[in-house]
Amino acid sequence: MSNAKPARHQHSSAAPTQLPAGEGVRLQKVLAQAGVASRRAAEELIAAGRVEVDGNIVTSQGLRVDPENTVIRVDGIRVVVKKDLVHLVLNKPRGWQSTMSDDLGRPCVGDIVSERVAAGQRLFHVGRLDADTEGLLLLTNDGELAHRLMHPSFEVTKTYLATVKGVLARGVGKQLRAGIELEDGPAKVDSFALLDVNEGQSLVRLELHEGRKHIVRRLLDAVGHPVVRLVRTDIGPVALGDQRPGTLRVLGRKEVGGLYQAVGL
Ligand code: URA
Repeated sequence: MSNAKPARHQHSSAAPTQLPAGEGVRLQKVLAQAGVASRRAAEELIAAGRVEVDGNIVTSQGLRVDPENTVIRVDGIRVVVKKDLVHLVLNKPRGWQSTMSDDLGRPCVGDIVSERVAAGQRLFHVGRLDADTEGLLLLTNDGELAHRLMHPSFEVTKTYLATVKGVLARGVGKQLRAGIELEDGPAKVDSFALLDVNEGQSLVRLELHEGRKHIVRRLLDAVGHPVVRLVRTDIGPVALGDQRPGTLRVLGRKEVGGLYQAVGL
């Protein structure tokens, strides 16, 4: 659940810090550089009370802000204007470790981002996928974002497609939604759907918001349907789409805003 509120629902009257002339960058320019709108359209957003700077709605034009340290929201959604922040999606291939390095020399995510790391980017992978799991892995150099996305209290939904052994009996979804007692405590899915049955295997989609180790495999084992193939397709507002395994893509502005909103930043 997000803590962020749309700008128009906030009623803060304190004025944001105005930087002296010559310092900082004009708000409409910062918004334009971040790709929100043209400068002219950014001025209209400001005039309409849709832009918030450090928690205060700004309606006058020309405010100078420090893009490195200012939190800007448009309609309550964070616009990340800090230039050195990086947000990437990797489609992790099956058989690769989620780590940035591997003592045993096995292929790992660090190999895929080695040029970025060599160039000085300090990337974190947001959680882990098992080596045998494929799919969406977020990478960022924003440590607070990574921390919150991994924390169950922020309840960011993760979606998985699992091919499992066996043809599902009625009631399996209900059982998983109600909760299963695992060795380290109860776990449940937020949603469950049977998508297909083929040659004695079933394809299912599950959504859950926790990240305990092997959680999907353990849940499906517990209901008698061991996983044959597991792919993570979504984390909150970010979807893998048709991105090919082993490729990286830079998140779009709306996806980044959605992630920050999802964890109340
Ligand atoms: N659940 C699992 O069992 N494995 C993963 O990699 C992710 C979630």
